[in-house]
Amino acid sequence: MARILITSALPYINGVKHLGNLAGSMLPADVYARAMRLLGHDVLYICATDEHGTPAELAAQAAGMDVADYCDEMHQAQKSAGEDFALSYDYFGRSSARSNHALTQDFAARLEDAGLIEERVSKQVYSNADQRFLPDRYVEGTCPNCDYESARGDQCDNCGKLLDPIDLINPYSAVSGSKDVEIRETRHLFLRQSIMADDLRIWVNSHSADWPPLATSIALKWLDEGLRDRAITRDLKWGIPVLRQGFEGKVFYVWFDAPIAYISATQDWAEKTGGDWESWWRTDKGAGEVQYVQFMGKDNVAFHTLSFPTTIIGTNNAGGDQYKLVDNLKAFNWVTWYGGKFSTSQGRGVFMDQAISIAPSDYWRWHLMANAPEGNDAAFTWEEFQNSVNSDLANVLGNFVNRITKYAVGKFDGVVPDGGQDGEHEAWIAAELSERLPALIAHYEAREFRKAAEQTRAIWAAGNEYLTRSAPWTHYKTDVDQAAVGVRAGLNLVALFGIIAQPLIPDAAAKILNAVGVPEGNRTWSFGDFSGVADLLDALPRGLPISPPELLFTKIEDDQIVKWTEMFGGGEV
Ligand code: 2FM
Ligand code: ZN
Repeated sequence: MARILITSALPYINGVKHLGNLAGSMLPADVYARAMRLLGHDVLYICATDEHGTPAELAAQAAGMDVADYCDEMHQAQKSAGEDFALSYDYFGRSSARSNHALTQDFAARLEDAGLIEERVSKQVYSNADQRFLPDRYVEGTCPNCDYESARGDQCDNCGKLLDPIDLINPYSAVSGSKDVEIRETRHLFLRQSIMADDLRIWVNSHSADWPPLATSIALKWLDEGLRDRAITRDLKWGIPVLRQGFEGKVFYVWFDAPIAYISATQDWAEKTGGDWESWWRTDKGAGEVQYVQFMGKDNVAFHTLSFPTTIIGTNNAGGDQYKLVDNLKAFNWVTWYGGKFSTSQGRGVFMDQAISIAPSDYWRWHLMANAPEGNDAAFTWEEFQNSVNSDLANVLGNFVNRITKYAVGKFDGVVPDGGQDGEHEAWIAAELSERLPALIAHYEAREFRKAAEQTRAIWAAGNEYLTRSAPWTHYKTDVDQAAVGVRAGLNLVALFGIIAQPLIPDAAAKILNAVGVPEGNRTWSFGDFSGVADLLDALPRGLPISPPELLFTKIEDDQIVKWTEMFGGGEV
């Protein structure tokens, strides 16, 4: 049994997340957590809302709310959206929690002891109308490179050049539109990432075999370009205060405190459950044996492979408490929405609360993981969503389960039949399973979600093939015992199909397992060493009553697709 710590990138507080966020972090983390639990591992899956930063302040302002109240409300909304999608977090915390204030301040103090923090004076755009310093992307103006008039302070969308906001011509505030802005000097703490570059490169390279190429290539690109020191404080009110003379009214940068919340949320989990957070995070307290796996979209990779590791390594270098670095990092590309990106700020795409109001969570979970944006970006279309649900779930799995359970009720008194001897067809399906079950587990262990879904479907399809071969309905008239073998094996396959479906479609899996009376404690993946696969066809007690499940999957009709396309604007490019 291994101990596996799982975190998914913390969703920003500013609104319920869209399907792209779900598919690229929280959902695969949940599927992995479920699969590893079924394999008998000790799993801790932690997530939280990422609550600081300008976007949170501005979203609250737009909602006409106090920022703390706004965060309370949105945290609840995101928590319940996660529950609706059956995300099995062990704890869903908040980066604004007291624990994160204390831990972030503590990390900063240790980094300082390790000589990794430096005070510097920098020039920044201040908006008199908004009475605040403007973060880079909230200053707009004319690009000094191409004269484009609405260039953002961090980058020009027209010519692509990375900019410094103080170089913009005719700058104005993107918050209020005011031109009453000036350049002021301000003092900030910088994390000296540059002096850690060699250590980071060695560490990244040590993972080149076990991280996806997407992750290592992003990290190495930043290192090759020369890692720059980063300001980790901001002139904002909302956030974690910087305890330092002259820094009154300043807070830590959201990307400094957010990943630390992986740890502080684990502390909060421990507080609530009586668990031992240190045994998960502190390598000097037993966490050395923990395998830590992070899930995230590709835009988060640099922060997780360079900045946060600088925080961890730097803190560890100060001596004292020793924290764990990530072992495996799974990064995803984008799910695209009709030629573009999903966008929270522009409301483009389908959001979790909307998705759940039009179709059950299993449908989304299945479709998004069967088409996970692993190798490339993955385009979402309504037609493919319809196809995943109708052909994979309804036709391949749903029909199998209904066909054999109904037949057992009709012809075998609704019990697992006794009688007959396994023959060539049972040998065939047993051979299929002894190949396919280990392959399925290997895909989960490698966090290859498309392959896991594909193999799951192939196993269900092999069940249909088995029924075609053994054809109990044909034998029933002439040889009831022969038919009994087919029905018994078929019902056992129903149980097995429910068991392997659990990580991807937990709700339907539970219905299936209830239908064939598999007790809760027997739903794990104890397939043994795969030499006993034939026993899987005779695992349910003979004579056990079964009942066809309530409706498993409803097919998605064409007119629904038309309606959803109108509702969500899919189809427009
Ligand atoms: O990109 C995002 O949605 C960020 N809120 C992710 C933060 S991950 C972590 F480090 F907290
Ligand atoms: Zn430009």
